[in-house]
Amino acid sequence: MTIPLVIDTDTAQDDCVALLVALLDPLADLRAITMVAGNVGFDQQVRNAFLTLNVAGRLGEVPVHTGCRRPLVRDWVSAENVHGDGVGGMSMDMAGHGPQAEHGVDALIRLAAERPGELSIVAIGPLTNLAAASVKDPDFARNVKALYVMGGSNNGHGNITAAAEFNFYVDPEAAKAVFRAGFEITVLPWDPVTLRHALFAQPALDELAALGTPISEFFTRACAATLEFNRNVGIDGSTHPDSLTAAALLHPELVTRAAGYHVDIETAGELTRGYSAMSWGIHGLTENATVIEEIDSAGFYRYLRDLLAKKTTCRLPILLPDGATIG
Ligand code: RIB
Ligand code: CA
Repeated sequence: MTIPLVIDTDTAQDDCVALLVALLDPLADLRAITMVAGNVGFDQQVRNAFLTLNVAGRLGEVPVHTGCRRPLVRDWVSAENVHGDGVGGMSMDMAGHGPQAEHGVDALIRLAAERPGELSIVAIGPLTNLAAASVKDPDFARNVKALYVMGGSNNGHGNITAAAEFNFYVDPEAAKAVFRAGFEITVLPWDPVTLRHALFAQPALDELAALGTPISEFFTRACAATLEFNRNVGIDGSTHPDSLTAAALLHPELVTRAAGYHVDIETAGELTRGYSAMSWGIHGLTENATVIEEIDSAGFYRYLRDLLAKKTTCRLPILLPDGATIG
């Protein structure tokens, strides 16, 4: 039994890996990719999504819809200092390939309404599209079976500021609205879960690079810039919260501990913009989300390693900065 899903993404680095999970795991029935303003330039994110479709051998098979090109209220904040262009300079001839005419918010509403209670959404960027969809269609949250969100930290460190994780920092108003909209939400936080259970050190990265498949080479190149950034800020490895969020939906057995929390997002604070207040039982607040607390990290690594070992054929050559190609 496959799982129908949409991935809402600010496609760069590990977002690309999350797309590979949804494109190559036989359990996944990826209905669409919707783009949201986040990591890097919006049009670069769109190109990154098509590059990922291409290296997965699925170019032209999954519709890409452009969603909100900026946050609801605030100016866009880039993470190009972290991710570069998000794909290590890889490119392809985009002639004849591009996003659908239908806006990403309308696509999310339509796909959820076509089969109420069946579609899951994996949101791995700022939550602007999800917030807009839940305002535009009052039934949207109810139509969505499960919403898996990569964002926030569970009483832990931020990454873009001491208080806030990037996805919730970029559009805190959208995140606040989503946690109040009535979705069945599962959250994969940055700290502690990503930092403890979705961080690949150099020996693991060497093993993945040695797989010698087009998608393992794509993985290594797309993650290089973020790996360098991580090391410069004291994180000794490649972080994979987005692909873990997608894997947790498809393989719930990877989640070894989770609990109900009340999650709310700071929108008024100067120093705490985007902070995720994750309150547990003793605070007397009604639970509105399940927060993942622990992952089978060895199992996740084996899963991703086996996925990247798959042999795929690029529909078009992927051009490398040195003039060589993948596929
Ligand atoms: O804070 C990590 C999140 O921000 C990830 O989704 C990464 O892609 C960036 O969007
Ligand atoms: Ca992301």
